[in-house]
Amino acid sequence: MTNKFCTRFGTNNPVVLAPVGGVSSPELVAAVSNAGGLGIAPVWYLDPDGLKAEVRRIRSLTDKPFGVNLNMDFRSEAQLEACFEEGVEIISLFWGDTGDFVPRAKAAGCQVIITASTAEKARAAVALGADAICAQGYEAGGHVEGTVSTIALVPAVVDAVGDVPVIAAGGIADGRGLAAALALGASAAWIGTRFLAAEEAPVHPTYRAQLLAASEDDTDRYDDLYDLSWPNAPHRALKNATSKMWEAAGKPALGQRPGEGEVLARRQDGSGIVRYTSASPNAALEGDIEGLSMWSGQGVGLVTKIQPAAEIVAEIVDQARAIVTF
Ligand SMILES: Cc1cc2nc3c(=O)[nH]c(=O)nc-3n(C[C@H](O)[C@H](O)[C@H](O)COP(=O)(O)O)c2cc1C
Repeated sequence: MTNKFCTRFGTNNPVVLAPVGGVSSPELVAAVSNAGGLGIAPVWYLDPDGLKAEVRRIRSLTDKPFGVNLNMDFRSEAQLEACFEEGVEIISLFWGDTGDFVPRAKAAGCQVIITASTAEKARAAVALGADAICAQGYEAGGHVEGTVSTIALVPAVVDAVGDVPVIAAGGIADGRGLAAALALGASAAWIGTRFLAAEEAPVHPTYRAQLLAASEDDTDRYDDLYDLSWPNAPHRALKNATSKMWEAAGKPALGQRPGEGEVLARRQDGSGIVRYTSASPNAALEGDIEGLSMWSGQGVGLVTKIQPAAEIVAEIVDQARAIVTF
């Protein structure tokens, strides 16, 4: 299975492991790249040394292409320089003003993927020099900038950007979703929630159990629920005790919320995570995991078992191939 996305990024198939902040691992990224897809490592919350170590670890596990993901709401010179020093070849940028990062990344020989939530933003990203657009629809898990559904967004973006490959994100969890994305004119699918059930993803067991049990109706997109540590950034997560308690109280703003300041869980270093923090429940946390921001897309209803990442990639590709041929 090959197309312009595969040709441009050197992959064997059009499956992208979306950057899933806080719950990704070098093992997961490398496993997807080794399976012929494109693994993307979220590194925007790492300091430059941590970022470099992450890239080296991925390199030790795969000789296939992979990318890293930077968050433009926390744009960091030091992170960009660290990417250049490590010879990163593919950089994904999301959320907000990319400043001069695109021309600089291009000048350093990188390929740049920009996440966009409207056709207009996709057009602007291409004008800046983007090599591909990740069109992220409303169904997506994690932080979701836009309000347009994937099925409406993808063809609009495809029409807006000419020959530039478009990667569809949001609600795609199996080969039917990949086939649908390809039918809409996308060249690949950018998949997050399904890979939270990969063996290699260090997702907390409680979070994982909630994902496996959830239906397509068990998520919600919140403008400002988990806004501690990352304000003004809408997000989609599983409904839980925190969201229900907040809704029952009339969705008050920070400062007037029930359970505010309450430490729900602790990291390995002993630091606490309070209710309403934007934090991915990874395997290293201990405490009331269910009350945390359990990011999830609407495709979660299709996530029913834990599998090695390579098996997930193969299953998605085989299922899509039975539907669309090219
Ligand atoms: C747990 C989780 C963490 C995420 N973290 C990031 C991130 O760090 N950077 C980013 O660009 N997108 C992030 N996203 C969004 C994904 O890149 C992607 O757009 C989304 O998962 C696609 O929708 P899906 O979850 O329905 O597959 C995250 C999504 C999830 C579920």
